[in-house]
Amino acid sequence: MNTVIVGLQWGDEGKGKVVDLLTPHFKYVVRFQGGNNAGHTLVVNDETFGLHLIPSGILHDTVCCMIGNGVVVDPAVLLEEMQGLNRAGYTVTTERLQISSNAHVIWPFHRTLDVAREAARGKNKIGTTGRGIGPTYEDKVARRGMRMAEFVNTQQRQAKLQSMIVEKSPIYKYVKMNVPSFDAMEAWASPLAERLRPYVCDTIDNLHTAIQEQEPILFEGAQGTFLDIDHGTYPFVTSSNTVSGAACIGTGVGPTHITHVIGIVKAYLTRVGSGPFKTEIHGEDAERLRTLGGEFGVTTGRARRCGWLDIPLLKRACMLNGVTDICLTKLDILSHYKEIPLCTRYENDVPHYEIMQGWNEDIQHCRDFDSLPAACQEYILRIEELSGVSIGLIGVGPKRSESIIRTDTFRMS
Ligand code: GDP
Ligand code: IMO
Ligand code: MG
Repeated sequence: MNTVIVGLQWGDEGKGKVVDLLTPHFKYVVRFQGGNNAGHTLVVNDETFGLHLIPSGILHDTVCCMIGNGVVVDPAVLLEEMQGLNRAGYTVTTERLQISSNAHVIWPFHRTLDVAREAARGKNKIGTTGRGIGPTYEDKVARRGMRMAEFVNTQQRQAKLQSMIVEKSPIYKYVKMNVPSFDAMEAWASPLAERLRPYVCDTIDNLHTAIQEQEPILFEGAQGTFLDIDHGTYPFVTSSNTVSGAACIGTGVGPTHITHVIGIVKAYLTRVGSGPFKTEIHGEDAERLRTLGGEFGVTTGRARRCGWLDIPLLKRACMLNGVTDICLTKLDILSHYKEIPLCTRYENDVPHYEIMQGWNEDIQHCRDFDSLPAACQEYILRIEELSGVSIGLIGVGPKRSESIIRTDTFRMS
């Protein structure tokens, strides 16, 4: 039962909540791409946790969480997150967290470059999170990046840092900024490397031992399908592959070991940053949905752009990911609407909406499909019919418990 969880839209679909909910059924929870551009909010027993880098399974002490080779790691952010969890009573030990020795390191100069490049793009900016994600993946692909194994080895780190600074100098001059000094970078890196060294290991070896022992693995995606560097709305995308196939590359597990792909879909649509968004709504309508859904970024606090569910986009996402089951989140937010537009197709690139009847009553307390209002059931069934994939889990509130489980996939039986 090795399962990949991916976002089927532009991120923030509620992946974190679903990973947290399903974690008790797994022995390993592994992040496979992205970095701290991700922001996942988990609500457990009235406590709220924001996670960026550590897998969302970390609140359960029965699993080992891994940061896979496909992830880019800002060591300072990671340590801060670990310390935050420790303070909250979720002690992060080397049994509970492992970092791939092949994961690449985000340096402060990657962050500076990310921000400087965005500024240089002016009105054509991508709207990145400014966390240095793009520049770090650039260095990785250009075969000059630094892996975690090198970062925690003082000699190797210093040699690589030296060459990275030399290589970055012309770009720094181009963006009219001071070249980072070796001493300042080393002073930043050295204490972080000491603290993180015990967590860095060959996660690939450990995962394959788990597979041999038939211990189930949950692969946790970040971002969403249409932020994928190949399949998304390029160039308004992130710098990694976010689709389910990336779970293999980003962890070193072959595709034959994946049994399920769960796609997370918000009952409406949001996007942070620039780029096309056919079903976007504006003005007061957008403001209303944003306020009802609390659609403000966990990572940057930016207001998320809002719109209606786009079925052609969802069908494409199901195709790109080989989705076996859908989880529909934030359905409770639509309880406030008398009518709900559902985009079923485009006419000359313009969305065509089917107007679904709203239910206008609270559903947050519902725990099974039959107790949902008839119009709400209709909305779910229509999405299933149009997308061709069954909806096995429904989110009716932010808390772990506010969920409706419909199929055995989600009961993990
Ligand atoms: P992620 O990046 O995909 O993990 O999603 P985020 O955490 O960035 O954004 C989803 C937000 O919606 C978070 O604040 C969650 O607590 C919240 N959330 C998740 N599922 C539900 C749901 O079914 N109903 C409501 N009302 N909120 C939800
Ligand atoms: P989670 O995991 C929503 C967006 C940024 C920007 C684009 C590129 O919480 O769903 P980057 O910093 O990655 O180079 O920015 O991607 N973006 C996200 N949007 N949720 C995320 O993650 C995102 N991670 C990146 O807003 O448009
Ligand atoms: Mg998010």
